Amino acid sequence: MPKSAEPEDGSESNADTFKIRTFYLFWPYLANPIYRSTNLIAPMKRSVRPFVSILVLLALAVTLSCRIAIRRGGIFTFPAELESGRVLIQPPPIPYFNSTLLKFAATDMGEEKAKLEIEQLLEGNFGQGRYKTFATWRRFNHHDIKARNSNGLPVMLRSPKFYRYWLDFRRNLQDWARRKMFQPDIMMDLVRLVKVPIDSHNGLMSSDRKYKSCAVVGNSGILLNSDQGKLIDGHEVVIRLNNARTERFEKYVGSKTSISFVNSNILHLCARREGCFCHPYGGDVPIIMYICQPIHFMDYLMCNSSHKAPLLITDPRFDMLCARIVKYYSVKKFVEETGKPLSEWGSTHDGSMFHYSSGMQAVMLALGVCDRVSIFGFGKSVSAKHHYHTNQKAELKLHDYEAEYAFYNDLVTNPQAIPFISDNFRFPPVVIYQ
Ligand SMILES: *[C@@H]1O[C@H](CO)[C@@H](O)[C@H](O)[C@H]1NC(C)=O
Ligand SMILES: *[C@@H]1O[C@H](CO)[C@@H](O)[C@H](O)[C@H]1NC(C)=O
Repeated sequence: MPKSAEPEDGSESNADTFKIRTFYLFWPYLANPIYRSTNLIAPMKRSVRPFVSILVLLALAVTLSCRIAIRRGGIFTFPAELESGRVLIQPPPIPYFNSTLLKFAATDMGEEKAKLEIEQLLEGNFGQGRYKTFATWRRFNHHDIKARNSNGLPVMLRSPKFYRYWLDFRRNLQDWARRKMFQPDIMMDLVRLVKVPIDSHNGLMSSDRKYKSCAVVGNSGILLNSDQGKLIDGHEVVIRLNNARTERFEKYVGSKTSISFVNSNILHLCARREGCFCHPYGGDVPIIMYICQPIHFMDYLMCNSSHKAPLLITDPRFDMLCARIVKYYSVKKFVEETGKPLSEWGSTHDGSMFHYSSGMQAVMLALGVCDRVSIFGFGKSVSAKHHYHTNQKAELKLHDYEAEYAFYNDLVTNPQAIPFISDNFRFPPVVIYQ
């Protein structure tokens, strides 16, 4: 059964929208800076704006004369001459954000290490594990590079072709590192950053329009419990994760793929193969990838040129927003469930290695580029396999799936409770299929 809740400001009916928005206007907690203020007029159809503006002014006048937001046993009412009867509205719970948790979630424990690693890479120091990428790259391209890792001598780059890649690599990595910052408004940029290039690849005029409906298909074994293939394929856009295959599972997971969302480890593995083979869904399917290790820019550059469809890297500002949100949920759960101090969170969750899952970021992406979002194959049950398509037993410790489930639940029932995202962002309705 789908768990579903329309957001209260869903644009089904402007009259309803008005009631609720007006109510927000009277809501006494608006003074609370963290409370998500609601843009009263902007999201409405242009044609109704003047009308609504007048209504809003009228309503303001009404409240000013009877400034009592009346509270009765948790039900809020306000008298309005504009309505024939009374408007009874159950307000969303006031989100409460504990500032200590917010601050802790906003700190990236791996930041220093990551900075150092990037610096070293920019200097051409490919230590230990990183060398593997270059070895792979060399075998593939037959270039003459030599890495010294133990004594820290820089790599010798003799091939002009390699040198060109190397310059590109530095430029891309530098640019990426420079843009890595917190920007809560980034959700509103996703159409431009992701949908526009994909549309243009598909020969479509770019517009601000979002996709009408998106299915994000996780890889949980729970997918095998029901035949949702047709339902999934019925969405305008289907987003799949980390190249999970669909053959032989079509009945459960569908067969259409519009966007392949992967982490850069996946591309790194594909990059070893002839022609950067990374297209289980066909060469025309755009790939969106987040960078888990900066060295993977090398794989990206190597593969980008041979890709027909766009190969897009998630904006580092978007990465940072996702990281903060998941960490907040993880930390909150940790202190609530264990009663332990915040400082102990790191040791239970791989501290500096802690990372959101690909699924979480794919859902975030869908929130930004789709009018409706359906989530399939997220969640677990004792009887289900971890992945529908593999026999992997254990979950990775660097993810906190429980925390991410709590986040998805808030998306459905109470998006106001999600921290860090800009107040100006309007969450689309989200449905979780299990
Ligand atoms: C916020 O969370 C911290 C850490 O769990 C806790 O010590 C503190 O009491 C909380 N503050 C409030 C106001 O609840
Ligand atoms: C990746 O490839 C696309 C299409 O060929 C190109 O427009 C883009 O500039 C490339 N990106 C980089 C960083 O080289």
